[in-house]
Amino acid sequence: MMVSKMGIGCSKLGASFLYDNTHKVDELLQTAIEGGVNFFDLANIYAYGQTEALVGKILQSRRKDIYYATKAGKIPSQLASLARYVMPIAPIIRPFLSAKAVKIKKEAKRKQNFQPVYLENELKGSLRRLRTDYIDLFQLHSPFLDDLATPGLFEWLQTQKKIGRCRAIGISVNTIEEAVWIIKNEQVDCLQIPYNALQNEAEQSLFPLILQNQVGILARVPFAQGMLTTKHGSQKETLDEKLQMHLNIALEQKITLEEYALRYSAKPAQVQVVLPGTSSVQHLKRNLLAFS
Ligand SMILES: NC(=O)c1ccc[n+]([C@@H]2O[C@H](COP(=O)([O-])OP(=O)(O)OC[C@H]3O[C@@H](n4cnc5c(N)ncnc54)[C@H](OP(=O)(O)O)[C@@H]3O)[C@@H](O)[C@H]2O)c1
Repeated sequence: MMVSKMGIGCSKLGASFLYDNTHKVDELLQTAIEGGVNFFDLANIYAYGQTEALVGKILQSRRKDIYYATKAGKIPSQLASLARYVMPIAPIIRPFLSAKAVKIKKEAKRKQNFQPVYLENELKGSLRRLRTDYIDLFQLHSPFLDDLATPGLFEWLQTQKKIGRCRAIGISVNTIEEAVWIIKNEQVDCLQIPYNALQNEAEQSLFPLILQNQVGILARVPFAQGMLTTKHGSQKETLDEKLQMHLNIALEQKITLEEYALRYSAKPAQVQVVLPGTSSVQHLKRNLLAFS
């Protein structure tokens, strides 16, 4: 089964203290499947585990026709342990909580653990929530290079492959420099990298190495987290020079900025899957058109 060129970045599927998209997840996933998508990028911490649980439940009957990529290594925020109690009242307190929650969330994101014993517990949690006995791609979630020296880490990853808990192993990196280092020093099947028209450093340093190395590349944040969309980026009064240039090319090609951004991220031969994120069925349908 071929992996679809467009995957779904699932980080916004579910509810957090700041938003609630739970009611849209079913329609988003059905729309994605009908549009030919078979690759879903998740993480144990997305919506405090709820994202995996929702996706696992909705797509259970299609398990053999889809690929799950998930991640572990980030420690769930302090809020996660309170989620069960606070989520029922989240809609009421959300408007007052937002700024503080963002701050707490950012701080929590810095806490990580790549000890095999910790990862094993998280991987088992993902398997349970996704209602499956294997993960197609298990990724370390934004480790720093120091974390990769954690004793036994790569042996543990290889063991998970051998015993069938995951089919492939990968690393979702913070920077292209880290990706280059990993390609030269470690053995992984896939790398997830930030790659879009505004963040295209990979073209110079990473992509030339990939052709010789047979490592799968997952291109995340194709819209530069909203900057390459008419919703956010191009609405600003003064546009960044690079953004203006891409907007002009899109206009010349008579395509939308979003379509241009998706095609840009999908174009290099090294990119196996592009991972746009959306919480809107309408946006998802437009994104699918860019790949048709
Ligand atoms: N460290 C990591 O491993 C890491 C970090 C970041 C992201 N990721 C992965 O990458 C995925 C994508 O990241 P992302 O969602 O932050 O960035 P993104 O895909 O670059 O941008 C998403 C933004 O673009 C908007 N958008 C999407 N389609 C649109 C359309 N057709 N028209 C207008 N606006 C549109 C979305 O708004 P709407 O919701 O309104 O559509 C959202 O604001 C994540 O879900 C996750 O799987 C991984």
